[in-house]
Amino acid sequence: MEIVETDVLIIGGGIAGLTAADYLSLDKNVIVITKSDLEHSNSYLAQGGVSAAIDKEDSWQDHFFDTLNAGHFHNDYQMTELLVKEGQNVINILSAWGVPLDKNERNTFQLGKEGGHNKNRIVHAGGDQTGKTIMKVLSNRIKDKANIVSGEYAIDLIVDQNTCFGAFCKDNNGNLTMYKAFHTILAGGGYAGIYSVSSNCYGSDGSSISMAYRAGVELADLEFVQFHPTLLKNDYGNGLITEAIRGQGGILVNSKGIPIMDGVHPQKDLAPRDIVSRRLFEEIHSHRENVYLDIRTILQFSRKFPGVTLLCESAGVSLENGLIPVAPGAHFTMGGIKTDLDGRTSMKGLYAIGECANTGVHGANRLASNSLLEGVVFAKQAASHIIQSERNHLQTSPTFKMDSFLSSNKAEQEVLAEKVIQSLMDECAGICRHREPLIKAKNLLQMDDFRPYLLTWPLDLIKRLNMQTMGWLTVTSCLKREESRGSHYRTDFPSSHPSWQQKKIVRSIRNDKSIIAKKAAAGIFN
Ligand code: SIN
Repeated sequence: MEIVETDVLIIGGGIAGLTAADYLSLDKNVIVITKSDLEHSNSYLAQGGVSAAIDKEDSWQDHFFDTLNAGHFHNDYQMTELLVKEGQNVINILSAWGVPLDKNERNTFQLGKEGGHNKNRIVHAGGDQTGKTIMKVLSNRIKDKANIVSGEYAIDLIVDQNTCFGAFCKDNNGNLTMYKAFHTILAGGGYAGIYSVSSNCYGSDGSSISMAYRAGVELADLEFVQFHPTLLKNDYGNGLITEAIRGQGGILVNSKGIPIMDGVHPQKDLAPRDIVSRRLFEEIHSHRENVYLDIRTILQFSRKFPGVTLLCESAGVSLENGLIPVAPGAHFTMGGIKTDLDGRTSMKGLYAIGECANTGVHGANRLASNSLLEGVVFAKQAASHIIQSERNHLQTSPTFKMDSFLSSNKAEQEVLAEKVIQSLMDECAGICRHREPLIKAKNLLQMDDFRPYLLTWPLDLIKRLNMQTMGWLTVTSCLKREESRGSHYRTDFPSSHPSWQQKKIVRSIRNDKSIIAKKAAAGIFN
């Protein structure tokens, strides 16, 4: 096994991982490990933009309120306050990097609207190509500053006395490398890929989170899985049909042309995603209807949404009649590795950022376009904490006996096929959940040992183990949360609506600019 040493090891090459690498490489040797390459990440696919309260009619308090409202008040208020206050700063950073953000004819930022936002505050680049545009600029910035290792899959953390010293990684030919690092950052994305229909790139199997789980690191909120209402419904692909289209006037209709969001929520088609997705689920599964996104009122559609136009064309869906067939699909996972303001996890030397982290900013349902923002904000936090920290020294060589890895593992026989895991998750832990199916899924996903020695396992088996681990953790968390809240909807438990106290304090945050969220959280919400 090859051994490589570095100051900081970053696992994941999306916006969070690369932003951390960009800041850290001024001061440290940085290695970034990616499963595939820098063009295969969910950040790269992001059609939505970066939300930031930068309009003169907008304020961080309004953005804070919309984030809490979408998150069903399950959010961490202090973390959320940091996130929304950083909006302007992140737009400045992206501009300074040279990201060509979309501007209007007055040469100010073109601010779009998406579900759950009461103000126009989404900054895009290249229309619906925001992720790709940012990632190209960022990849270019760091290519000579950090060592990017493509095509390696992180298997397990190197841990001694609850301190992390790097990770073991494997390439597609089965070659193992031990990356020893003073600091390790997990930025490997979420686990929406454990469902059969997802907007994510292939391989969103929650590997960073499973790895943290095997090492005993604290996780949280795994039951909260966001289903995006509009994925292309087509035999040839399920890509994302961005919510920004509804922000420009697109509406959801059934095959009779009847708008399906009328009377459901005051924000209609731009209601928070959990509400719109449940409405589509009802229309498709209970009423046996097809649902379409009606784009007939949007002028110059293909100029404004080049990515969606290309997606439809390559799937053979004509835009001529102005109706795009859509259905919900797994999109973003709010649960993950519990972190603090500096991106620190419960294990010394180990940080988590981006979708694999549970910072608490998304609560029970993420507000649209808050995740690229989160990626940049918490990457910066973690990087500056690392720059100021002591190095963690591995006192002894970790005492792994290679022969113990060679012993055959009963766990191998219990790992299910990818399709079996995905259909169990679809059937039992999808948009609507109920105790009996959840128990069925838990029993079928259960293994004797979720923490076997993995170094000698073939990659395909490790990936399926990670999916099964994430599936089991998700259904177990779904069973534990005996209420309906945000994206976690239990048909056997009523919705927990925000209390009047919550609404009152949030109104006062909006009206009184001097109240900070932390005080509100401490005084009323706890
Ligand atoms: C979208 O463009 O609809 C997705 C944006 C997001 O998930 O934040």
